[in-house]
Parts: sequence; C-alpha cells; structure tokens
Amino acid sequence: MARSVRLEPVDEGNLEPLLSVAAAEAEPGDVMPPVEAPAGWSHARREAFREFHRASFGGLDGPTGNRMYAILAGGEVVGMIRMARCDEPGTVETGMWLGRSARGQGLGAAALRALLNEAAAAGMRLVVAETTTDNHGAMSVLEKCGAKLREDGGKVHAEICLDSALPAG
Ligand SMILES: CC(C)(COP(=O)(O)OP(=O)(O)OC[C@H]1O[C@@H](n2cnc3c(N)ncnc32)[C@H](O)[C@@H]1OP(=O)(O)O)[C@@H](O)C(=O)NCCC(=O)NCCS
Repeated sequence: MARSVRLEPVDEGNLEPLLSVAAAEAEPGDVMPPVEAPAGWSHARREAFREFHRASFGGLDGPTGNRMYAILAGGEVVGMIRMARCDEPGTVETGMWLGRSARGQGLGAAALRALLNEAAAAGMRLVVAETTTDNHGAMSVLEKCGAKLREDGGKVHAEICLDSALPAG
C-alpha cells in the first residue's frame, strides 16, 4: 500500500533538514541548478542550495513564481516537489526529487497527487512536466497521476489537466 505524504512549504524551519537529505541521499544535479563549485556537496554548493530555495519563499506570486514544498513521510523530510508559473495563464510546471531511501515506495505519486490538489486550489488548470525516456521512475509517477506523455527524441513532455477529476490516491 502506498504510504501517505504531507507537503509543507519550504521555509527556514525545514530548509536544513531538506539540505541534509539532499546531501546524504541525492545528486546535486537532481535537486538544484548547476553552480560553479567544487564537485559534490561542497560548502559553496550547500550555500547555493539554501539560496536557490530562499529565492522562492515568496511562492507563486513572488519574484520567481515558484512554490516549493518539502515532502514529509512519517513526519520526516524525504524530498521536495515544486510548481512554477509558466507563461501560459493557469499553467504550472512541476518537478520533484526524493532521497534514495524513499524511492520505489509510491511516495512520488502520493506527493504529485498532493501537489495537483495545491495547484487546483491555487486556480491552476494545467500542470506540465519535462523528463527523459530513461527516467522510468518519473514517467511511471506521471502516468499514475493521469499525465498524457508525449515523447520527442529522448525527451518526454507530460501534461496533467486539472479540469478532469484527479485519479484516486
Ligand atoms: C522520480 C522519482 C521522484 C519517482 O518517485 P518514486 O516514489 O520512487 O516512484 P515509485 O515508487 O512510484 O516508483 C517508480 C518506479 O521506479 C521503480 N523503482 C523501484 N525502486 C526504485 C528505486 N530505488 N529508485 C527509483 N525507482 C525505483 C518502481 O518499481 C516503479 O516502477 P513501476 O511503477 O513500474 O512499478 C524518484 O525516483 C526520484 O526522486 N528520482 C531522482 C530525481 C528525479 O529523477 N526526479 C524527476 C525529474 S523529472
């Protein structure tokens, strides 16, 4: 049975636990944009991780138009899911990551369902995502949440329309 998750907006209170999970259980390239810094979870990369998340504390109506949530399972931070405004009104783009020990348990689909509810509550009508054909986990999670997938070379463009009823979790 899929475990349940809770989403908490990323803030100063959960930023350090989120960084700890990222540094211990994820690759920098899966959790933040590239930065010029020594390889691995160097001091500079950790500081860039904090600043990347702080820049979006203003949420959908803030300067980055990006809302980030810590994913909690069993009361522990296990990853992050976000939505960012697109140019098209009523449309947000989503992305997520989980720490390695939290993968393969259905938490990704549970987190995406919770994110779809947040997006609908914010008045959004369409959630899109970009991934690649080699990311079986991401494609599986998107399909479980009712996404239409369109492949173009090695890239995959996903669309989830919020006008139709959300699939049961
Ligand atoms: C993509 C990701 C969020 C998927 O979340 P998840 O909770 O692991 O997803 P699920 O538990 O539904 O598993 C998805 C598939 O991966 C398989 N899987 C099993 N163990 C796994 C593991 N340790 N790691 C990854 N995938 C695993 C599952 O069997 C499942 O396949 P199925 O649906 O055909 O049965 C997660 O793997 C992740 O954080 N990956 C790294 C970051 C990333 O790629 N983000 C997406 C960018 S577009």
